[in-house]
Amino acid sequence: MELVDTFGRRINYLRLSITDRCNMRCRYCMPAEGVEKLTHSDVLSYEELLRIGRAAVNEGVEKIRVTGGEPLVRKGILPFLSSLSALPGLRQLVLTTNGVLLEELAAPLHAAGVQRLNVSLDSLDPARFAAVTRGGDLSRVLAGIEAARREGFPIKLNMVVMRGVNDDEVESVASLALDAPFSVRFIEYMPSSGEERWQSLVVPGEEILRRLSARFTLELVDRGALSGPAREYRIPGAAGTVGIITPVTGHFCGDCNRIRVTSTGKAKSCLFSGGELDLRPYLQEGDAALQEALRRIVREKPHRHQLTQENDEPTPFAMSKIGG
Ligand code: GTP
Ligand code: 5AD
Ligand code: SF4
Repeated sequence: MELVDTFGRRINYLRLSITDRCNMRCRYCMPAEGVEKLTHSDVLSYEELLRIGRAAVNEGVEKIRVTGGEPLVRKGILPFLSSLSALPGLRQLVLTTNGVLLEELAAPLHAAGVQRLNVSLDSLDPARFAAVTRGGDLSRVLAGIEAARREGFPIKLNMVVMRGVNDDEVESVASLALDAPFSVRFIEYMPSSGEERWQSLVVPGEEILRRLSARFTLELVDRGALSGPAREYRIPGAAGTVGIITPVTGHFCGDCNRIRVTSTGKAKSCLFSGGELDLRPYLQEGDAALQEALRRIVREKPHRHQLTQENDEPTPFAMSKIGG
């Protein structure tokens, strides 16, 4: 089976959020007061999440990215990941994390079958890191990244670039890719939680690239079949790569290959546009119904999202509820 949308895009990548909770409150992801906590019964059980994963793989999904909130704060995640990774037909099980709990969990995550990690890293300055994440401890995240590296994980580092907040660190964060095999990605800031005046924080990817090219020689890398939204560059002699993700100035919807499911079981065909489909009723029925629901959400996938710097409608949701 294959999931192909009405624009001919093959959907082979599921982003599965397993919790909306987090042990940080990054300013680009959550409002200052945090988000209203979901009650236990709102959140899908691991058994239900696994059924959704299995249905997606049966429909041709080859890559599952587990996200949050912060996925590692949910109890019992390791056996869940082991079951996911054992799904026949799944080629890649990957995870996005803030890194706070990675030092302890890198080895068991590896043992559970997780193949790659994406870790958020928005500043190398402890005070600034704490400000952006509203209290996060940079040293723990760096220790987590180091532990994951020792464990042999391929690691992508995500920096959300915000004008006047951390944009002076683009070069220093990129330098992390010189000696270690990190794939460092600079992400344009997207609006979250109905925030106004978000445009002033966006640093266009082209501007980031110009700054990087002034410091490093950049060679464009070809994109692979299961690759994400980043445009990636090699720096001759460097162990890693750098890249930009431009959801605002250069959407990558044309070759979007993904759908999302939130921790409450809402399937979303696009991060910013289109409706949601509640999978809970389908979970009551058999797997065939669940697979049909996934086909339906794919059929409704919009051509592209409407987020631009000119369109100043704030987004009504917090990124943490969807997992980015
Ligand atoms: P890889 O497979 O490792 O390349 O994963 P990824 O880049 O898709 O995942 P990650 O969780 O690291 O997300 C990186 C950034 O891309 C985040 O800021 C996401 O919000 C953003 N992003 C991921 N998918 C989409 C998408 O479909 N649309 C938009 N607009 N942004 C996305
Ligand atoms: N804009 C851009 N990227 C964001 N992320 C979270 N919120 C935003 C936002 N408002 C990114 C984080 C994380 C990934 C899942 O999503 O960097 O690494
Ligand atoms: Fe938590 Fe990640 Fe959102 Fe930061 S970006 S608040 S670490 S979920």
